Amino acid sequence: MENNLFTPLRLGDYTLKNRVVMAPLTRMRANPSDLAPTDLNVEYYRQRSSAGLIVTEASQISPLGMGYPLTPGIYSPAQVAGWKKVTDAVHAEEGNIFIQLWHVGRVSHSSLHPEEGLPVAPSAVAAPGMTFTASFEQVPFETPRAITVDEIKQTIQDYRKAAENAKAAGFDGVELHAANGYLLHEFMHETSNQRTDEYGGSVENKARLVFEVLDELVDVLGAGKVGIRLSPFVYPYGEYDPESYEVYQYIIEKLNDYQLAYAHLVRYRQGEIEHVAEKEAALWKAFNGTIITADGFTPESGEEYVASGKADAIAYGRHFIANPDLPKRIRLKAELNPYDRDTFYGGAEKGYTDYPFLETQKA
Ligand SMILES: Cc1cc2nc3c(=O)[nH]c(=O)nc-3n(C[C@H](O)[C@H](O)[C@H](O)COP(=O)(O)O)c2cc1C
Repeated sequence: MENNLFTPLRLGDYTLKNRVVMAPLTRMRANPSDLAPTDLNVEYYRQRSSAGLIVTEASQISPLGMGYPLTPGIYSPAQVAGWKKVTDAVHAEEGNIFIQLWHVGRVSHSSLHPEEGLPVAPSAVAAPGMTFTASFEQVPFETPRAITVDEIKQTIQDYRKAAENAKAAGFDGVELHAANGYLLHEFMHETSNQRTDEYGGSVENKARLVFEVLDELVDVLGAGKVGIRLSPFVYPYGEYDPESYEVYQYIIEKLNDYQLAYAHLVRYRQGEIEHVAEKEAALWKAFNGTIITADGFTPESGEEYVASGKADAIAYGRHFIANPDLPKRIRLKAELNPYDRDTFYGGAEKGYTDYPFLETQKA
């Protein structure tokens, strides 16, 4: 029987060759001098061009949007030039590539952007737990500054500029990172958003910034080149607010009018959220466009999930780190290389561009 991951998929302005998506994966290997992608990063993405779609590692839209050492940006000419080499390499192999646009909000440290000072967030509430400084020292999160309305307007313009840069760098589109506890997600939770202006309080207000940003991205690129990532039941770096479910319901419903290329929905895996399975199924069902789902899929469970009609494509993260030719391995039911957590973040070739392809392994 045909494997459902290998039928073409219409996604916005594109037709993908398969439904095996490379998930966005922060690897912290940009050029230390300008945070531009390097030739090593070009090789890493080129190796993975057989994905139906590559979503790049999250890339900050401004210096203040950075949360970890050596993550790439998409706000300077040098960064655009570096990314252009990446997109050229992927396109030469007939791949599709979207860049994930990122502002980390409070999940940051002032040492990463000394000129901008403290991280910003909807409200001055520190994320629980520890983070890393620019010199990899482990410290508690700082209490962020509450972002002003003027700064919010500037941030929206930073996203717009990032979309223009993405276009100049030859990307097929952008994925708005509104998941995993970063800036846009912080607005959706009462625990991190205690604002009393038009960006806090009501469900509509908590979702306002996401749509203000999307309006700019769509204006620059067209809806068929814009996707969004949400993680309705996963809120790392913060205290989960069960009431946020209503915000996601509102967002999904409103997204239906936007006709975006796709929604990338991170599924629930662990934690204590009441009726989570039903809630997740209801949200996924409420979205009327193309759905990519991620988190913890194996080749088999991914195929089953697509066959069941719950999603159109599966994003693989850790398996794509260790298997540059993952689609081929899935299609041939070949063994997967195991991934090495120690080399996920930072470093050079090791654990990055030296995982073997099937052919070289057999030879
Ligand atoms: C090393 C690493 C880096 C990640 N970086 C990002 C990122 O930049 N943006 C994002 O949205 N998710 C990021 N994620 C989450 C992945 O996109 C994906 O959702 C997660 O790994 C679960 O999928 P998997 O079980 O197939 O690995 C990261 C995960 C890992 C393991």
